[in-house]
Amino acid sequence: MIEIFDSADDLALAVSRQLAARVHAVATAGRTPRIVLTGGSIATKIYGRVSSENADWRVAEYWWGDERFVPEGHEDRNDRQAREGFLDRLGIPDEHVHAMPAHGCELSMAEAADAYAKTLPEDPFDVVLLGVGPDAHIASLFPGHPQVHETERLAVEVFDSPKPPPERISLTYPALNHTRATWFVVSGADKAEAVAKAMTGTPIDQAPAAGARGLEETVWFLDTAAASRLPR
Ligand code: 6PG
Repeated sequence: MIEIFDSADDLALAVSRQLAARVHAVATAGRTPRIVLTGGSIATKIYGRVSSENADWRVAEYWWGDERFVPEGHEDRNDRQAREGFLDRLGIPDEHVHAMPAHGCELSMAEAADAYAKTLPEDPFDVVLLGVGPDAHIASLFPGHPQVHETERLAVEVFDSPKPPPERISLTYPALNHTRATWFVVSGADKAEAVAKAMTGTPIDQAPAAGARGLEETVWFLDTAAASRLPR
């Protein structure tokens, strides 16, 4: 499914509203909403809107699809972005916030990835949010990198991310796709080619975004610029 918006702001507003509605629906059904957060610029916009949306945000639990392996609190951390955007503002209990280990945690990156895998729930996530890079990467799964082919480990270390900073931890497809819903959130003309590639069945080695999908639902939230190269 594709939803196209006039601007990145409109997209962010719609995603924050739909996320609030999903959290509410899951909580009302008596389950704990489980959300995987992403990093990136459109995510910052979404997180800025989330705190204005009324929902049971505090009963939900939050994980990350990837994280930059820099010290805790560093401005590059994806968890800092989400904490400042809404988690702290809304007073989400610490035990519901499953941040990835940070540089300085005394674990190697491989150990940190394995430790994070142990925090993942057995039940599927409810929503996995994914930003997409101009090279069609998602989380920290990059074209031509071996992590794209991982089928056993749920989280892996990445030493040479082409997007700085180079050291990261990322969930893999077996974890990212263990979700009821996958929501891609993409804005900007520089992503148009990547979106078109991912949506037209390009091999995952060339377009990692092509390999992510939800068990029940896969939605592409795009602005008109990001949607501009889709086949008509
Ligand atoms: C990160 C990511 C990454 C991001 C995309 C899109 O840590 O940077 O999680 O996968 O979501 O690169 O980022 P932009 O929205 O900034 O282009």
